[in-house]
Amino acid sequence: MNEAHEINKKWWNEVTPVHVGSDFYAVDRFLAGENKLGAVEREAVGDVTGKRLLHLQCHFGMDTMSWARLGAKQVVGVDFSEEAVKAATDLAEKAGLADRARFVEGDVQEVGVVDGGGFDVVFTSLGTIVWLSDLKKWGRTIAQNLAKDGFFYFLDSHPTYLMYDEGKSDLTLAYDYFHNDDEPIIDAPGGVSYADESYVIQSGTHEFQWPLQDMFGALEAAGLTIFEVREYPFGAWRMLPDMEIAEDGYWYRTQEGPRIPLLLGFKARR
Ligand SMILES: C[S@@+](CC[C@H](N)C(=O)[O-])C[C@H]1O[C@@H](n2cnc3c(N)ncnc32)[C@H](O)[C@@H]1O
Repeated sequence: MNEAHEINKKWWNEVTPVHVGSDFYAVDRFLAGENKLGAVEREAVGDVTGKRLLHLQCHFGMDTMSWARLGAKQVVGVDFSEEAVKAATDLAEKAGLADRARFVEGDVQEVGVVDGGGFDVVFTSLGTIVWLSDLKKWGRTIAQNLAKDGFFYFLDSHPTYLMYDEGKSDLTLAYDYFHNDDEPIIDAPGGVSYADESYVIQSGTHEFQWPLQDMFGALEAAGLTIFEVREYPFGAWRMLPDMEIAEDGYWYRTQEGPRIPLLLGFKARR
């Protein structure tokens, strides 16, 4: 694992137990039967009955297991944080899903073929590639694990949104659109957890900006074709301070002004 990923892994191992206990993730509601997937990804992925699904960067597994609750016959989550894999495995037992949900520790750039590969769906969402230093390796992992007639589904922050200061509603440009190999975006220790602002984090992070050409290019280089590209003017969490949650569970801007894309969804197949 490279140095940036080692730094990020430390951060995720520190925050995972905080996330598991947070109102933000609401594990109690999941254990009571709540499905943690949003309407956007449920509609895009469609019926998973009887399918095998691989979830990359699964965190502690609530989204992964939500696919099992929707009928997937086997779900496998991959995450490089041993704390996340431990919490996910424990939660699968508590939720009575251990027979269909399995969690594997691994870096998504290096994990290779998981459980024999051949997955009908490879899924990743909401807080993913900003943590990755090499999308070509990520693309290879996806291609290696996809069934011949399967598809990859991606839903995450739109790279245009990631250029702006997330702490300001007036769309202040703060970051390059383009990837910079030599300079990851470094967050020093001492930040607070997005899931619990009372928790001050002792570790720092190295994040990466990935423009569309690099995302699509990495998947194309791995032999995949992109389709069903979708851009959304709403968020899956409070992505800018002026946003408010609506009845559909998504967050909308309240301040007047130009609309920018906040989420990006797409699929890829062989
Ligand atoms: C924001 S979370 C995943 C999103 C999920 N929607 C959620 O909130 O539950 C990001 C996850 O990516 C994992 N991660 C970051 N870099 C990784 C890597 N190189 N390989 C595998 N997992 C990684 C972290 O450990 C974390 O669990």
